[in-house]
Amino acid sequence: MSNPTPITNGLELISPEAYANGGPPHEIFRRLRAESPVHWCEPPGYEPFWAITKHADIFDISTSPDRFASGPGINVLTAEQISSLEASAFASMRTIITMDPPDHWSYRKVANRVFTPRAMNEVDDVVNEAARDTIDRLAGTTGEGECDFASDVAAAHPLRILSTMLGVPREQEPDILRLTNELFGLDDPELQREGEDRQVAIMELAMELYTMFDMIIQDRRECPRDDLASVLANGQVDGCPMEMMETVGYYLIVFSAGHDTTKNALVGGMNAFLEHPEELAKLKNNPGLIDQAVDELTRWTSPVNYMKRTATEDTVVGGQKIAAGDSLVLFYASANRDEDVFDNPYEFSIDRKNEKHLAFGVGEHFCLGANLAKRSQRALWSELAPRLESIELTGEPEWIHSPFVVGLKHLPVRYRLRTRSTD
Ligand code: HEM
Repeated sequence: MSNPTPITNGLELISPEAYANGGPPHEIFRRLRAESPVHWCEPPGYEPFWAITKHADIFDISTSPDRFASGPGINVLTAEQISSLEASAFASMRTIITMDPPDHWSYRKVANRVFTPRAMNEVDDVVNEAARDTIDRLAGTTGEGECDFASDVAAAHPLRILSTMLGVPREQEPDILRLTNELFGLDDPELQREGEDRQVAIMELAMELYTMFDMIIQDRRECPRDDLASVLANGQVDGCPMEMMETVGYYLIVFSAGHDTTKNALVGGMNAFLEHPEELAKLKNNPGLIDQAVDELTRWTSPVNYMKRTATEDTVVGGQKIAAGDSLVLFYASANRDEDVFDNPYEFSIDRKNEKHLAFGVGEHFCLGANLAKRSQRALWSELAPRLESIELTGEPEWIHSPFVVGLKHLPVRYRLRTRSTD
């Protein structure tokens, strides 16, 4: 199966190095949408796949889980990565993100109720307090300083929220941050776990994560409280308690899916505001725009760049024949710049009407934490924007070496904030 168009063999779409040099390849996405929206890729060293870049096709695939399964895997991997993961404790962790109907809903139901808009009202205190703490810490006593917005603000805020919800003690927050950085930074030389042997490093990482969550699970089984940690620890599927690996897997997917994504939306958001100060001014002058702003920031940054699906039958996508067993990679970052859906898609505008973006996916696997992600961002910007008197870059932003959860790992800035005492 080959495609004569020379736009890309897919390496620029999927290799970590490509993303380290400036983030998502928007110009290639634009050409693919126009010239080859269902594009066969054979990137050297990786499994072959169809690159899906149009909003309508991604919508169609995501809402047809019977034809396009998540079970066989959601990432495009190299042979080495496949064998490292198969040998690790992660291999036996089944999580909702790689389940298909009917199992998927049976398991998703366990946590679904914690993330409904109404249930979110109950975590608003946690979310707002985390935002206040983060910005107060930044302001210090003088209100002035320099920081890496990526680690000091964007990572710290969701870390506090998710740790609180999952029962991770404060003193273990740095540990869980390090562990998930290592998990997501498997391809980033700065973030990945130290150690010569990658397989051993991944095994150690899995064991450390397992041990941390196992302690919380035992505690919440013995003394359940009114929190997400207890809901997961005591979760039942079809009337039976979840198995230990499934429970640990649930913790891991909630934390890992929730942390870096929100972090990347926040740090990418700050970068967007630095590049478009008039949009930050708009938000300062019109706090009522916050929900639209959060939608636009999420569209603009699209922290989850892609998800993979596998065709379960011979089928057709966007007029292109697809064979059973073929992999399809849904590039949300491309869908969110689709000219057929968004006016001036390359324009960052916080008062854009944005209900159609696909940054949280759509259909069967629509982001479980979308409401939490929105509230977390809303709280941070609502706290920061009115207090921010000035902010400027002090160095080059640096991109994470990852094609999957995409964003900036460093954003060095100098700032001046109103301190709380001067409010
Ligand atoms: C800006 C932040 C976020 C973005 C951009 C994002 C994006 C996504 C996307 C695109 C999917 C769909 C996967 C698919 O269709 O295969 C997804 C699923 C998921 N997300 Fe998020 N997410 C964010 C925040 C969160 C948060 C805060 C949590 C948890 C507290 C979370 C938990 C999950 C889970 C558990 C799934 C799997 C759902 C399922 O398979 O049914 N996410 N997310």
